[in-house]
Amino acid sequence: MQPIVRCLDLFCCAGGAGEGYRRAGFRVTGVDIRPQPHNPHRFIQADALAFLRERGHEFDFIHASPPCQAHCDLKHMWNAKEHVDLIGPTRDLLMKTGKPWIIENVPGAPLNTPIILCGTMFNLGTGDAELWRHRHFEFGGGLPPILTPPCQHRRKPRVIGVYGGHGRDRRRKANTQDFSTDARREAMGIDWMTGAELSQAIPPAYTELLGRHALAYTANAQGQRTAIAGTLDPVVVPNSEPDRPPKKSWKKVITGVDNKASYDTVSPDERVTHNNRRH
Ligand SMILES: C[S@@+](CC[C@H](N)C(=O)[O-])C[C@H]1O[C@@H](n2cnc3c(N)ncnc32)[C@H](O)[C@@H]1O
Repeated sequence: MQPIVRCLDLFCCAGGAGEGYRRAGFRVTGVDIRPQPHNPHRFIQADALAFLRERGHEFDFIHASPPCQAHCDLKHMWNAKEHVDLIGPTRDLLMKTGKPWIIENVPGAPLNTPIILCGTMFNLGTGDAELWRHRHFEFGGGLPPILTPPCQHRRKPRVIGVYGGHGRDRRRKANTQDFSTDARREAMGIDWMTGAELSQAIPPAYTELLGRHALAYTANAQGQRTAIAGTLDPVVVPNSEPDRPPKKSWKKVITGVDNKASYDTVSPDERVTHNNRRH
């Protein structure tokens, strides 16, 4: 039987990143400050930094997608608001957990020697349009970065961009809506999100790739004999750090598709009912 390997998906929104880690084989718990009724994974409504400080060590691997508004193109608009940059505080807390981690953000964000992923590396798109969606990923906690291929731009005549609640052909000058929400869902490989959620999401294909890498690293670090498709043969390393017993202190919010919330006190190891219609 495969051991359970726990991924904490911080700033999870509707779970684009988390879904890739789930497909890679992690058991995913998402944390967001807002209710996320469409998130298909275990979900806890909380401040990500507070949760990371108190409970981060209970997970085997941590992904964080701090809000990107402080770094994306919108910051140049005349009516742009001031946005707090949470990348530095998130990194500081991640380093204290001693666990492997990845921080994701947009081009221009202050990440250290990030790798870049693009939809064209995964052949993502819809019809005759290819998905240009560059996202940067910083690796830490001992997790080595992966090598990535170059973008494969301009293999198709049109380019789809998914941002700001709409989808545009990025080669057109005018701000026209060329792609329906369904087309944007197809391009992202996501079928459960609204247009606004899509515009914030990472395509699961990105984090499935990263997740397979992180899972192999985590399994080896824990001395588990785990065969993972697409990775090297398993290596067994003695486990020097036994799991700590889970605390049972955090309030968990379980939000059903009917949008009603109930409250419980559980640890991440407990199986709970949650939004998921896929597990
Ligand atoms: C860019 S979105 C993440 C998208 C997600 N990774 C995906 O792939 O679908 C950032 C999220 O951070 C959340 N957020 C902002 N500040 C937060 C905080 N202090 N604690 C937890 N979540 C926060 C927002 O509500 C938003 O859902």
